[in-house]
Amino acid sequence: MRNRQLSRAPLSQAAFEPRIVAFFCNWCTYLAADLAGTSRMKYAPNVRVIRLMCSGRVDPQFVLDAFAQGADGVLIGGCHPGDCHYQEGNYKTLRRYHLLKRVLRQMGIEEERFRLEWISAAEGDRVRSAINDMVEKVRALGPLQLEAKPEDIREEVAV
Ligand code: FES
Repeated sequence: MRNRQLSRAPLSQAAFEPRIVAFFCNWCTYLAADLAGTSRMKYAPNVRVIRLMCSGRVDPQFVLDAFAQGADGVLIGGCHPGDCHYQEGNYKTLRRYHLLKRVLRQMGIEEERFRLEWISAAEGDRVRSAINDMVEKVRALGPLQLEAKPEDIREEVAV
């Protein structure tokens, strides 16, 4: 019987696999991810997709919670500007995205860890390249080291 401890590398030497939380709009990016899958396009398995009816449903708290609970990156995917099924949901997303980026920067979270993409249902290839690119960039950064504790973050953003 093999000694399990001998075969395990120390945590610092183990290959780092980023954990990316993706919030995808039901009408576009989620379908694009589905299309990528059915078209057998390979993309990194590091993404956990959460389907929402519109990117405008992504509350800033969702993003902060994802980081606080161990995500190394957060990706938001929505319909192209002008194509939102709820008129202006993605414009709201865009405004929030720019604000959140500032907040995250102040918290010591690098820009590459938070990304917004407009990807229509027909753009399976684009969802694949966005995911792969983000995973590589976050992998290069290494695991997220939060300066503040998750409780502090929640307190800071509580309204
Ligand atoms: S319905 Fe897709 S972003 Fe609003």
